[in-house]
Amino acid sequence: MKNLSETKFALSYINKYGSLMAQGNGYLGLRASHEEDYPGQVRGMYLAGVYNRPAGSESAELVNLPDIAGMRIELDGQLFSLQMGKIVEYERHLALGSGLLTRRIIWRDPRGRLFELIFERVVGKTRGTLIGSRVSIKSLDQAVGAVVTTGIDGQQTNFGTQQLVEEKLHVAAGDFMVGHYETIESDRKIVIAAKVAPGGVITAKNRQIKSQVTLDLEPGQAATLEKIAVVCSDLDIEATNMEIGRSFQQKDDSSEAVFATLESGALAKLADRDFDWLKQEVAQEWTQFWGTGRVMLESKEATANIDQLALDFASYHLEIMTPKNDPRMSVGAKGLTGEGYKGHVFWDTEIFIMPYFLHHSPETAKNMLLYRYHHLQEAKEKAQKYGYSGALFPWESAFSGREETPEFAAINIRTGKRQRIASALAEHHIVADIAYAVWSYFQATQDQAFMGKYGRALLRETAEFWLSRAVRRDGRYQILDVIGPDEYTEHVDNNAYTNYLAAFNVRQAMRFNQDETDFCHRGADFLAKLYLPAAGSDGIVPQDDTFLTKPQIDLAKYKQAQGKQGILLDYSRAEVIDMQILKQADLVMLFYLLPQLFSADIVAQNLSFYEERTIHDSSLSKAIHAIVACRSGDVATAYRFFQEACLIDLGGDPHSSDDGIHAAAAGAIWLSAVFGFAGVDTTGVRLRFAPRLPAAWQKMSFHFWWQNEKLHIELKQGSIKFSKSSTTELEIEVNGKLLKLTGEAVEERI
Ligand code: BGC
Repeated sequence: MKNLSETKFALSYINKYGSLMAQGNGYLGLRASHEEDYPGQVRGMYLAGVYNRPAGSESAELVNLPDIAGMRIELDGQLFSLQMGKIVEYERHLALGSGLLTRRIIWRDPRGRLFELIFERVVGKTRGTLIGSRVSIKSLDQAVGAVVTTGIDGQQTNFGTQQLVEEKLHVAAGDFMVGHYETIESDRKIVIAAKVAPGGVITAKNRQIKSQVTLDLEPGQAATLEKIAVVCSDLDIEATNMEIGRSFQQKDDSSEAVFATLESGALAKLADRDFDWLKQEVAQEWTQFWGTGRVMLESKEATANIDQLALDFASYHLEIMTPKNDPRMSVGAKGLTGEGYKGHVFWDTEIFIMPYFLHHSPETAKNMLLYRYHHLQEAKEKAQKYGYSGALFPWESAFSGREETPEFAAINIRTGKRQRIASALAEHHIVADIAYAVWSYFQATQDQAFMGKYGRALLRETAEFWLSRAVRRDGRYQILDVIGPDEYTEHVDNNAYTNYLAAFNVRQAMRFNQDETDFCHRGADFLAKLYLPAAGSDGIVPQDDTFLTKPQIDLAKYKQAQGKQGILLDYSRAEVIDMQILKQADLVMLFYLLPQLFSADIVAQNLSFYEERTIHDSSLSKAIHAIVACRSGDVATAYRFFQEACLIDLGGDPHSSDDGIHAAAAGAIWLSAVFGFAGVDTTGVRLRFAPRLPAAWQKMSFHFWWQNEKLHIELKQGSIKFSKSSTTELEIEVNGKLLKLTGEAVEERI
């Protein structure tokens, strides 16, 4: 498997690679910041669920924890920094296959002496995370005295906001540096312990505890320092006796008792562990993951070089962003790789990220839905606050389950005033997106127990919201004043995506709540009278009531610089809203989610109409266009969209991912390969395939979980082959033809 590599040191890329090469396990994320400091370098370590609401702020932020990656290296008093001296050789690799981050440098210091430095870092795959790092320094020409200083640095902030109080720093069990921290508002308790070998002199000052280690470098001989650390929080303790329905906020034990438990657990985890042990352990776990987690391609075309790397990058990041079995936490829009969107959870999770897990590890997908179930109460409170019934899930959420969307966004370029973010007030499609995810979970698992206990209630409460949200106008139910997925169009009536998904939501809720006669009666009335925008005589389905009446402008300039939201530097948001401009897939999103709604002709026509008006300023857009283009038979265009989607994080833009990778885009890369090119459709009674491989690919293979079966699918130009884990018969369809899969491999011409 190819590494993700950086072959040149450049300050301008430091934060992009800090995000791209981040390591983690779904509970902890560690940015790939360099050991040594650089101006503008953002260090970052985050724990899923550890948020804090700073004084005076309306939204909670994913807390940037004390740093353990930093190291100060002095060589006979000369500070090691690539901003000085000369870089003779430089390479950095994240081995996606084994989770190991390495950096090798040959450096001529300002005094003309030559050194080789090799840094390695690895992050454990289990919760209560172990983190190992090692630096090996070789003086290539003369004897040198090196001093390496490293420890736990509590001076980290979220862009200047201090989120933690240091409760205690001390040395335990002889040579373990230990820090106790508590988040200021949310009272989360965190313990970090670290140990270096060889040991050094430990000091504590200015919210830092550090060990200073002296190494004698003989010419040509490497001297090595290892550091092993562990990070735990009180969320880990509570996880051991957690049940759905119980208040997770309740804290019975005294602070001291919690810290004591955390510290003894942390030290026990570190005992007898060293870097090599951890490196091997983590490599094994990653090997296991890749056994089924990968889409494998074969291609002879140089143009396809990025494709496999992008798919591996996507699977790697999906794996490290997602907590596996703790419903108190879900996945933020940047995973755990940075502070973008303050670590908040959006519709990205259910619609873009969950499918990968649904078809690899359904229990993890279930966890995402349990997170929503667990916060039904807060969603009901939000609905009530605005005069609605049922559950109105927050547009952005964190630990509390309450609305966390910040009030203001960028400055209006015309007025100089900050513009309000309307999403919390009107981007209500998230309610139906969650319902859609519940339904898709059932489609893929047939998990009746889940539906009875949780799914049914989620569907019912979300449906109740729509029944109360719609208003009677002109003899029909209409859904007024919403924002659809396209965030460059605000406060519109009857957004097609929203209306169709609301109908879908209500229909599924009725299916799973048939004994609720009053509800079903109201649901049937809603479905009979809800206005569902249809294609006009020209074949175009209106995105909303007014979109087609708005003026159009030439978007070429903005499309070229897509992802940068450059249009908002030329026009105010209010002006953008009044033009035919889409930030991202909207109706195309509907075509993707509900492929049977419209005829192939209508889909193709609308795809081309709306794409012309779409800047793709959101990372959620391109890959979905790839899927819909592929289904429409335009594989070349689909492949172009796919490749552009692959570059959202991996492309050359130095700042595309400074504040974290685009989590939904990672999910969407996988979606476009599997739901696009392999042509998977999970919306019917049977699993369906309508494959269309790009001309550049000879072969694509992947694993896919479906209704308790582990399928393996191998796709070539002209054929598709299935094998599966059991001998039970499973009916599927390939291009409309029924196939019965049993234990034997089945190959079909396409
Ligand atoms: C997109 C939303 C998305 C959010 C978080 C916004 O730019 O318009 O659709 O949910 O980013 O990724």
